[in-house]
Amino acid sequence: MSNNIKVISGPIDKSSNHVLESGREKYFFTYTFGCQMNENDSERLAGQLRSNGYQNTDNIEQADVILINTCCVRESAEQKIYGKIGELKRLKTLNPNLVIGIAGCMAQKDRDKLFKKAPHIDLVMGTHNTHQLLELLQEVEQSRDKVLAVWDQAERLAPEVPTIRKNQISAWVPIMYGCNNFCTYCIVPYVRGRERSRPLGDIVQEIEQLGKEGFKEITLLGQNVNSYGKDSDENVDFADLLHAVDNISSISRIRYMTSHPRDMSDKVIQTIAQSSKICKHFHLPIQSGSDEILQRMNRGYTTEYYRELVRKIRESIPDASITTDLIIGFPGETEELFLETLEFIKTLHFDAAYTFLYSVRSGTPAAQMPDQVPLPVKKARLQQLMDIQNDISLRINRKLEGQLVEVMVEGPSKNDASRWMGRTGTNKIVIWDKGTECIGDLKMIKIMQAQTWLFRGQMV
Ligand code: SAH
Ligand code: SF4
Ligand code: F3S
Repeated sequence: MSNNIKVISGPIDKSSNHVLESGREKYFFTYTFGCQMNENDSERLAGQLRSNGYQNTDNIEQADVILINTCCVRESAEQKIYGKIGELKRLKTLNPNLVIGIAGCMAQKDRDKLFKKAPHIDLVMGTHNTHQLLELLQEVEQSRDKVLAVWDQAERLAPEVPTIRKNQISAWVPIMYGCNNFCTYCIVPYVRGRERSRPLGDIVQEIEQLGKEGFKEITLLGQNVNSYGKDSDENVDFADLLHAVDNISSISRIRYMTSHPRDMSDKVIQTIAQSSKICKHFHLPIQSGSDEILQRMNRGYTTEYYRELVRKIRESIPDASITTDLIIGFPGETEELFLETLEFIKTLHFDAAYTFLYSVRSGTPAAQMPDQVPLPVKKARLQQLMDIQNDISLRINRKLEGQLVEVMVEGPSKNDASRWMGRTGTNKIVIWDKGTECIGDLKMIKIMQAQTWLFRGQMV
């Protein structure tokens, strides 16, 4: 393998489409880090490989191609990924023909730096180049150069490629790509580009097809699903899309993520209230309970606005669950401002909160802000906040004890294959002893015991 780096800056001629040389089957192995959008991208990477004769393998030693689909939202994710890349060096030494490719958000951000940090990497492909995988692999195999394909900007809509889905019941469907919000801590807009909504007809068609293939649950994906349609000529918004998907009879559950509180409209709330299939779960990342910090985060709402939004949701849909994300230790978070966040979660009563230590992302405005919070302080605050939130979650969950809830059977419990795992529409995980029910069924389960993050149940 040479050390030349070949840069791919535009579309590749497809006439010489990559065909496997006959003889031995080729195998690929993928690792995925990060959010659901990345999981779905990995399904598209796998789809392209499978459509070209590659088989996937669970045995990494057998792989001819290893792809790591990466995330860079926090430093901890990057450290894990660099650790994983380091481990692959041994395999490359054993098999110099092995192709190691890095895709996704960290590839978009670090580009050719990845080759310098880890010379055993062969291919770096950015988030706007996912559809080029086969041509890029061919480039690597023919030239034996290192190949770098990281476009600064996405095509308005990337060409469709085959998707091989991991789950046979539940499918992810992207409705828009990118983000325009530029929250001051966040790297996502830099690595995923500007908002691009898919045409409503394409989305509906994809979901109808998924319904025919036996999928029961659809999760609509976007960094900010509530701004669906704003960038396109079609006169449609997220509520219209939800309505259209709600009418697809073969699908029994519709989820979506993520919502930006600022853009959550009354029309969306009403559409959800009137639907029996759209899950009554609102994931609305607040990020901080301090107005001062929210402003410096550029979130575009106040705590008062957020409270009013939650009030409206609970009024229209009394049994809705509401969850959130919180960042602890944003620059300038004093003890006093942190206490505002604690007060906020004590009064808001979230069903659950996903909590993150603020992580400096270079190139974002917050990285330059004064008064960065020391790590031990961040950690202590995080612990304090989690203790309080866990207590709230448990108290809310206990109210369900003895009640019947509808769950979709998702598969065997990870810790015990003799039990099923399923989720309620409100996104609560329930575990119960297996009966005659099948994956994908909607069943009534009696909640026997509540915990912070899950429930033990019993079939009735
Ligand atoms: N687009 C989604 C999710 C983006 S990333 C949204 O806006 O909700 C998921 C979560 O990671 C965010 O909600 C935020 O809580 C967290 N996050 C993003 N950047 C971060 C950073 N620099 N440090 C710590 N947490 C971060
Ligand atoms: Fe990041 Fe904010 Fe966009 Fe979410 S809305 S991806 S937190 S910039
Ligand atoms: Fe991570 Fe990229 Fe998703 S940075 S959270 S994988 S959009």
